[in-house]
Amino acid sequence: MLAKRPLDPQQALVVDVITKYFHLPKPPLWKRLLGAKETLPAPGMLPTVKNGAKEPVAAVDHVSFTVARGEIFGVLGPNGSGKSTLIRLISTLLKADKGSAKVFGIDIAEDEMGVKQLISRVSVDAAFFKKLSPMENLLYGARLYGVTGPQATVRAYEIMGRLGLKRSTYAEPMEEMSRGMQQKVAIARAFLTSPILLLLDEPTTGLDPRSKRDVRAFIEELRDSHDATILITTHDMEEADVICDRVAVIHNGKLVATGTPEELKRSISNSGKLPTLEDVFIHLTGEQLIDVDGAKVPLSG
Ligand SMILES: Nc1ncnc2c1ncn2[C@@H]1O[C@H](COP(=O)(O)OP(=O)(O)OP(=O)(O)O)[C@@H](O)[C@H]1O
Ligand SMILES: [Mg+2]
Repeated sequence: MLAKRPLDPQQALVVDVITKYFHLPKPPLWKRLLGAKETLPAPGMLPTVKNGAKEPVAAVDHVSFTVARGEIFGVLGPNGSGKSTLIRLISTLLKADKGSAKVFGIDIAEDEMGVKQLISRVSVDAAFFKKLSPMENLLYGARLYGVTGPQATVRAYEIMGRLGLKRSTYAEPMEEMSRGMQQKVAIARAFLTSPILLLLDEPTTGLDPRSKRDVRAFIEELRDSHDATILITTHDMEEADVICDRVAVIHNGKLVATGTPEELKRSISNSGKLPTLEDVFIHLTGEQLIDVDGAKVPLSG
C-alpha cells in the first residue's frame, strides 16, 4: 500500500484547518443563567430542562500547522484545550469533522493503515496486557508492526536500558509496576518499531526528574540519529523550551501562536529582558497563576 504512494520527504505533518466537535450535554439552564457563580437556586426555583439536550463544542477548532521532517514540535495549552484530541485525530483514532491532515504526504482520511505504519502514539492511557511483563508487551507490540525474532528482542533490551528501566523489572507483570515505570514501557513500545512520526502525549508527566531527563535525552537522540520527527504535548514549559524546535500554543481548541520558543518570547517582550516560555503561555492563554494568598502573580519581562 505504501509503495503506491510516494512519501513527502520533507513535510512530516501538514494539518489543515482540522476541526473536531464533541456533542456535550448542555449544562442546566440555571447554571447557564448564573454563569460562573454556579450557586444552586432555592428549591422549587429550578427551571425544567429537557434531559439529553446537547450542543456541539469544538474541541479542536480550525487548527493548521506544519511540522518539518526531523523537528521536535511542541503543542502547549491549558487543560481541556484540545491537545490530546488533536493527537487522536492525527493518529486516526478519531475522525475529523472538517479539514484534513497528511503524514509524510499520506492523507489520514484516505489511507488509515498507511498513516498508522508511519506513526506511534504514547499517551497516559496506554493500554497493556497487565498480567504480562514489559518484555512480552513490547514484543507483542513489535509483532503488530512486523518486527519479530532476535532483532526485536535486542532492540527491546537496548531501549529499556536506555530509558533507565531496571533489568529486574523486565519479567515482572505490568500490573505490579508503578505508573511512571509503565509510562516508560509505553515510551519504549513506541520507539521499538522505529516509526518516523512519534506523537507523544505528555510523555514525561508523572516521571521523576531523573526519568524525565532520560526520556528527553532519548527523544533528542531519536531526532538526531534515527530520523524521527516528534510531536509532543507537555505542561512543563521548561521542558518545551529545552527540547522543542518549535511550539504551537492552543487555547479553547484554537491555535493562538506558533514559532520557536525564542520567537514567541520575543513576540511578547516589551523590555530588554526576555520573558520565559511560561510567561508566553500565560500571556497567550490568559491562564493566570494564582499564588497562595489568591493574588495574581505578575508577569515577568
Ligand atoms: N470523547 C470525548 N467526548 C466528549 N468530549 C470530549 C471527549 N474527549 C475530549 N473531550 C472534550 O474536548 C476538550 C478537549 O479535551 P482534550 O483531552 O483534547 O484536552 P487536553 O488539551 O488534552 O487537556 P489536558 O491538558 O487536560 O490533557 C475538553 O473540553 C474535553 O472535555
Ligand atoms: Mg490531554
